[in-house]
Amino acid sequence: MPAACVIGLQWGDEAKGKLVDLLAPQHDHVVRYQGGANAGHTVVDGDEVYKLHHLPSGILHSSVQNYITPGVVIEPTTLIQELDQLQQRGVRPRENLIISQRAHLVMPWHLLEDQAMRDEAVQGESIGTTLRGIGPCYRDKVGRNFAVRAIDLVQDDLPQRIETIVQAKRTYLAALSGRSELAEQLNAQEITRTALKWGEQLGPLLGDTTHLLLDALDAGQQLLMEGAQGSLLDIDHGTFPFVTSSNSSGVGISSGSGVPSKWIQRVLGVAKAYSTRVGGGPFPTELHDDVGDKIRKLGNEFGTTTGRPRRCGWFDAVAVRYTARLSGISGLALMMMDVLSHLEEIQVCVGYEVDGQRVDRFPCDAGTLRDAKPIYETHQGWMHDVSNARSMDDLPPLALAYLKRVSELVGVPVEVVSVGPDREQTIFAA
Ligand code: IMP
Repeated sequence: MPAACVIGLQWGDEAKGKLVDLLAPQHDHVVRYQGGANAGHTVVDGDEVYKLHHLPSGILHSSVQNYITPGVVIEPTTLIQELDQLQQRGVRPRENLIISQRAHLVMPWHLLEDQAMRDEAVQGESIGTTLRGIGPCYRDKVGRNFAVRAIDLVQDDLPQRIETIVQAKRTYLAALSGRSELAEQLNAQEITRTALKWGEQLGPLLGDTTHLLLDALDAGQQLLMEGAQGSLLDIDHGTFPFVTSSNSSGVGISSGSGVPSKWIQRVLGVAKAYSTRVGGGPFPTELHDDVGDKIRKLGNEFGTTTGRPRRCGWFDAVAVRYTARLSGISGLALMMMDVLSHLEEIQVCVGYEVDGQRVDRFPCDAGTLRDAKPIYETHQGWMHDVSNARSMDDLPPLALAYLKRVSELVGVPVEVVSVGPDREQTIFAA
């Protein structure tokens, strides 16, 4: 099994970090290949809770080499803070991390551009980004002229480069916001001083991850690829324009990491036993009632990156069947089963009604999805705390029936069931 991958099947926050941390010791390398500090991965180790935005979730395992590859956009200040914080807690992340020289950097102007656009509506609704400069950075990567990559931090022409970009960005920001205040926050000398410090800190960690990973595969070593966000936020295949700016479904693994698809043999799709979404965009099974509030409270559904309350709703089998196919999932990990323990009735969306017609395929257009009415199947809740379950045999029959039905609807076997945040609260189906 040369390369395995963990991919989110919903709108992110599916608890992928927990799984990557659990599976990491069975692999030689863990690879974070897309997204940036917009991600929030929580890893729980006994009493210690680690909230990671940038670092791969294998970082707590000293025997595992971790990589940040070309598809990631790095916010250096956040990355350095995360490295320092882990160091203070006795982890040595600088010893098992390599950052691609090709990865692009989120620069101060990107954060300001995200802020300038924050309230702009598309299709009548704001995207509600995490304000981490993700979209503006990817935009400059594709545009090329104003891009800054990790390797630039250790090149002699960095000050001239920043000077040129700042001049252009000041004009752009003033035009974008219709005000000069944001543009005035950009000072080329100050940014250069900061960037040179980033270079001192991150320079020793830079490497050509593309060659290193290909060498590792040739040597028969095992890779674990860690997806960030979820497949429904994929720039090409998600609920556009309410998406993130990278390929967050399985299709992004090769482009973001440089690992050819022929090596990827196991793709574990991660979904919650219900659904959540942060930010704007259509969400057919969203609950606006006490049940939604109950799920939010029991599941502690507040954003790791922004602290925003997450929108909560029922499991959408139409959406997850689509993303499981798109991402080439071989097994399903169903997370947060414990959260549903205290609900008398549980609904699962098995189709949509659009313009009076039943639709079983996930629509490609956000407008259609916004108008789609979910068709539900009702399941009796198991009303039994499952957080102490450690094997499938410990789960009540109604919980097993729910898992069986979800697996049937999605078309993929359930391989993992999570019943709480701790590593031990995980059941691997035989
Ligand atoms: P951006 O990635 O910050 O540009 O945000 C675009 C959309 O993706 C917004 O709706 C965000 O809330 C959402 N988003 C981005 N990253 C994550 C994540 O890691 N989990 C959940 N939602 C995310």
